[in-house]
Amino acid sequence: MSLHGQIALVTGASRGIGAATAIELAARGAHVVLTARTQGGLEATDDAIRAAGGSSTLLPLDLMDGEAVDCIGPSLLERFGRLDILVSNAGTLGKLTPAPHILPKDWDAVVGVNLAANWHLIRSCGPLLGIAPAGRAVFLTARQAQAPLSFWGAYGATKAGMEYLVRCWADETKTTALRVNLFEPGIIRGKLRTQIMPGEDPQTVPGPETVAPQIADLCMPQTRVHGQLIEAVRG
Ligand SMILES: NC(=O)c1ccc[n+]([C@@H]2O[C@H](COP(=O)([O-])OP(=O)(O)OC[C@H]3O[C@@H](n4cnc5c(N)ncnc54)[C@H](OP(=O)(O)O)[C@@H]3O)[C@@H](O)[C@H]2O)c1
Repeated sequence: MSLHGQIALVTGASRGIGAATAIELAARGAHVVLTARTQGGLEATDDAIRAAGGSSTLLPLDLMDGEAVDCIGPSLLERFGRLDILVSNAGTLGKLTPAPHILPKDWDAVVGVNLAANWHLIRSCGPLLGIAPAGRAVFLTARQAQAPLSFWGAYGATKAGMEYLVRCWADETKTTALRVNLFEPGIIRGKLRTQIMPGEDPQTVPGPETVAPQIADLCMPQTRVHGQLIEAVRG
């Protein structure tokens, strides 16, 4: 079950599900490239990985910067000569509000991080994942993509768009060694959840470490599932 010798890229690795997944992948032997905007959060994830005997590289980056995302693949090729795993986890909620009230700047941010950045990541990292012996890509989605609800228009629309893009890419690559899937974590403790339910006691909500092994399982060379939406299994 080892990822020894493999290179993994995890977006949104400064906290929450991304940080927990990066720690899990490193524990399984991968060298993990950690990306997000917050340097301090990336360093905290890096510290946890090193404390457990793993290794990682920090890549501070704003996913709104499409040109910078386009450079990730070529940079990884130059530095490591390969990319085996992509966990596209970064996401932003925007503001929960009626559709006519969504402000252009909030719309742009949600579309930029939840949808456009995934296109840039596929564009930039797809070729490297395609030539890896067992390339794996996992994209974090949310149930609002399939179940429209009042006030969730921007978030749900961008997750639905991302799901469509990922399923198309999966169909295009179904005859290759690459395995591409979507993962729906359910309700998980963290900043995003607190934005939705500020009054909730965080200790009543499962932590990110409950889903990180399930995401990492989809990154293993043994994984055969492809083009599927996998829902988190609650213990
Ligand atoms: N938590 C839940 O209940 C839940 C439920 C369903 C789906 N999900 C999905 O699961 C994923 C992770 O959720 P989470 O709860 O761990 O969220 P979180 O704690 O809010 O973390 C989000 C991560 O995304 C990064 N990010 C946001 N905007 C970015 C930008 N412009 N550039 C680069 N990185 C950016 C953040 O890093 P910086 O701020 O440092 O940049 C952070 O590391 C998301 O895709 C979310 O939609 C979560």
